[in-house]
Amino acid sequence: MTDHNETRHNYDRLSRWYDFISGSSERPARMRGLQMLDVQIGEFVLEVGCGTGESLPVLNSCVGSTGKVIGLDLSAGMLGVAKDKLQKLRLSNVNCLQGDGLHLPFPDGSFDAIFMSFTLELLPAAEIPAVLCECKRVLRDGGRLGVASLVQREIPNWMERLYVWAHHRYPSAIDCRPIPLQDMVGRVGFENSQFQEMSMWGLAVGILAARPSTVIDE
Ligand SMILES: C[S@@+](CC[C@H](N)C(=O)[O-])C[C@H]1O[C@@H](n2cnc3c(N)ncnc32)[C@H](O)[C@@H]1O
Repeated sequence: MTDHNETRHNYDRLSRWYDFISGSSERPARMRGLQMLDVQIGEFVLEVGCGTGESLPVLNSCVGSTGKVIGLDLSAGMLGVAKDKLQKLRLSNVNCLQGDGLHLPFPDGSFDAIFMSFTLELLPAAEIPAVLCECKRVLRDGGRLGVASLVQREIPNWMERLYVWAHHRYPSAIDCRPIPLQDMVGRVGFENSQFQEMSMWGLAVGILAARPSTVIDE
């Protein structure tokens, strides 16, 4: 598994090429995830792992001038590309912040909605619940989580098996792998409100909208 410095360094190096390499393939799932999150005028929204900021203008137009969007990412390089885009579009109610999803630098209950696309599945398995718990902590009561991520199929096809093999063989280059998204989100106390699967290069991408569960365990 890669550590955070290595992840940061990898994405700093990749930042100028990222949109070229993955832009068109990831866009449909990212856009569907944003649709499912259904962000409203005036809401406060956080994107964890915002990367080159592809979702930030969309979120900005959803929240309007009375809302606020924050894009947080480990990599200064990826954030640099995001900031250039925001500046060109003259979007002023979006802020980019360098930080780690494991320790979100916000008080409890700060956001109405949180979005994550193609980020959760590159974290070490032990960190995924911790990041999801951080998301739960900074969501207000009734807040929503939206995720787009590679997901495991019950019976993996040859493409998924090849991809997982490549991930184990070249973890720095192929840093993601399919995860049991619905299980992981459920285990930290979110309730699925919507789930959909799409295909990307033969791999399954899960798009999920969830809310912190209101049921208290006995
Ligand atoms: C595959 S990119 C996806 C970027 C963006 N969400 C998109 O859909 O284009 C993953 C991003 O997550 C960021 N990332 C990885 N680990 C992170 C962490 N622990 N906290 C915050 N960002 C992280 C990386 O720097 C990178 O920009």
